[in-house]
Amino acid sequence: MTAASGSPDSEAQISVHWREEDYYQPPARFIAQANAADPDIFRRFDEAHFPDCFKEYAELLSWDAYWHTTLDTGNAPFWKWFVGGWLNACYNCVDRHLAADRNKAALIWVPEPEAEDTRTITYQELYRQVNEFAAVLRDFCGLRTGDRVTFHLPMVPELPVAMLACARLGVIHSEVFGGFSGVACGERIADSGSRVLVTMDGYYRNGRLVDHKAKADEAVRAANELGQQVDRVLVWRRHPGRYTSQTAMVDDRDCFVDEVLAEHRGAVVEPVSMPSEAPLFLMYTSGTTARPKGCQHSTGGYLTYVAGTSKYYQDIHPEDTYWCCADIGWITGHSYIVYGPLALGTTSVIYEGAPTYPDTGRVWRIAERLGVGIFHTAPTTIRMLRKLGPDEPGKYDYHFRHMTTVGEPIEPEVWRWYHDVAGKGEAVVVDTWWQTENGGFLGSTLPALQPMKPGSCGPGVLGVFPVIYDEDGNTVEAGSGKAGNICIRNPWPGIFQTIWGQPERFLQIYYQKYCRDPASTDWRDWPYFAGDGAVQAADGYFRILGRVDDVINVAGHRLGTKELESAALTVEEVAEAAAVPVVDELRGRAVEMYVALKPGRDAGEEIEDSVARAIEREIGKIARPKNVWIVGDMPKTRSGKIMRRVIAGISNFADVGDVSTLANPEVVEEIRHRIQREK
Ligand code: WTA
Repeated sequence: MTAASGSPDSEAQISVHWREEDYYQPPARFIAQANAADPDIFRRFDEAHFPDCFKEYAELLSWDAYWHTTLDTGNAPFWKWFVGGWLNACYNCVDRHLAADRNKAALIWVPEPEAEDTRTITYQELYRQVNEFAAVLRDFCGLRTGDRVTFHLPMVPELPVAMLACARLGVIHSEVFGGFSGVACGERIADSGSRVLVTMDGYYRNGRLVDHKAKADEAVRAANELGQQVDRVLVWRRHPGRYTSQTAMVDDRDCFVDEVLAEHRGAVVEPVSMPSEAPLFLMYTSGTTARPKGCQHSTGGYLTYVAGTSKYYQDIHPEDTYWCCADIGWITGHSYIVYGPLALGTTSVIYEGAPTYPDTGRVWRIAERLGVGIFHTAPTTIRMLRKLGPDEPGKYDYHFRHMTTVGEPIEPEVWRWYHDVAGKGEAVVVDTWWQTENGGFLGSTLPALQPMKPGSCGPGVLGVFPVIYDEDGNTVEAGSGKAGNICIRNPWPGIFQTIWGQPERFLQIYYQKYCRDPASTDWRDWPYFAGDGAVQAADGYFRILGRVDDVINVAGHRLGTKELESAALTVEEVAEAAAVPVVDELRGRAVEMYVALKPGRDAGEEIEDSVARAIEREIGKIARPKNVWIVGDMPKTRSGKIMRRVIAGISNFADVGDVSTLANPEVVEEIRHRIQREK
């Protein structure tokens, strides 16, 4: 079976074959304590109750003023949720828990070096740190409601502290994944118009201390080149007094946060009450062009949605020790390490390091020591733990009652290991499908009420109604065995508001394809195009097949083919570049680069290396290609477009279909021959 095809030269879809998997039932012990155990919930969230069903989620929050309109569709598809409502996200995640739970752990931070002490931050301590840092942002940096701040922070508790401090002030934060390069960070600083960067001197990754401050200098330089001035770089010290980055501090621009904080000890900053529709943060992701998209998330709708889905789908109870082993630099971490769990007043674990460092028992040792009950991670981590330490879980005394997989399709065999071995057959597993743009889950099983099916995320979540359309907008029926484009028929509170500074692109990418009437203010005319191919089984469960646009999902990280190609083109000798996905045992997909050189330039290993290094410099290590192939020419259409679909087919040893209409069909055989010989 093949997935939907996108535009003719979009990412190739890789054929998948499967049989229907057997169901797994949730354990009785799980059902007995689940937050959502009464099937009446399906009635409360059915289409007849849309959009008011989401009041049930909104009521999990403390509002300064209640909304008068649940969903305003007047300026479709720029949906507005809980209009008239006022609240503060930081107050909801911190202050309101103080009365009953001041001394309870809000965050437990596990540093990568195992010898270093775990840090427990109570709600009171979090309150103190957030207030003091908010005072730094407001009084020292001069930031005000609506300003943007970029963070380039690794997995340290200072990151949620900084996020919450912004939320307290109504300042919009934009965290750039710590593994991204300085250049990539600089582009995002410029796009968001941030004049303050918050970073860290260094941190541990796989046992090595990374000099992170060096990236800040590159970021400021890159932002300057794009016309954005950065006035302040705030540098947290990972080990005050013990280690300092080799990279010098720049006078009048850089300062160590601990020194500035000393002047704001004990500061109390009143949370600023914000309209529900005020932006809370930006999260950049990749798309069809080289320019990243700053997905703008709202305060009221977003927080409502992550609180509600954390309660019903993550089954978070206040007394839980909940561990989402993802990076806060991605949307999963924002929604399901920080905002969702803290809004519910639970204890959220943050782990600094790589899951397999120093060995594959590390994750399970942490789970055992902290008594983790809910565990959340991505297929790429699960594959790695399964491959490198298949029997490790049995050696440790931990017991999960709930587990999540997120970020990529999970193979049924890998799912079964996760359930049977990692989860010891004791836990319910949810496979949650969603995206940076969505704020929270879109497809998943409701854990106590819907059985699991390995490899399928499940049906649409409560109040979310997905559908599969073919290229012409006809519904592809469930059980038809046909793949198509998965879309969502209705808005939901967690949906992003727009692409920062690019509202036309927002309309064009997500709505144009299936909009029934551009003048309509009825949400039914505006299905949301998610950019994934999917099939729906007769039971209503979706199986996600992967991106149909120009995005390659490597180990759960979205990389734009255009970004990769632009990076390759920074190498002097390169004339043309094409990035294609190849199947990879651990990462799901990996990137392969095909490059053609300018006339008269000789192919050689140095050029392959330069291309790989350029990608690492422009984007980050995660994007480093598995292979760089230098080819004489690229397969092209008669209009001169590079056919990535054909190249990807060759790279994956798959059928490339009819190539006779290409301008240069002979290069297909040339490339195939070369790849078969060398791979
Ligand atoms: C993919 C991550 C299959 C999908 C939350 C989507 C998944 C992209 C799943 C978004 C899943 C995410 N099963 N595929 N459970 N979850 N994806 O924006 O292709 O980093 O479009 O958000 O990851 O990646 P993003």
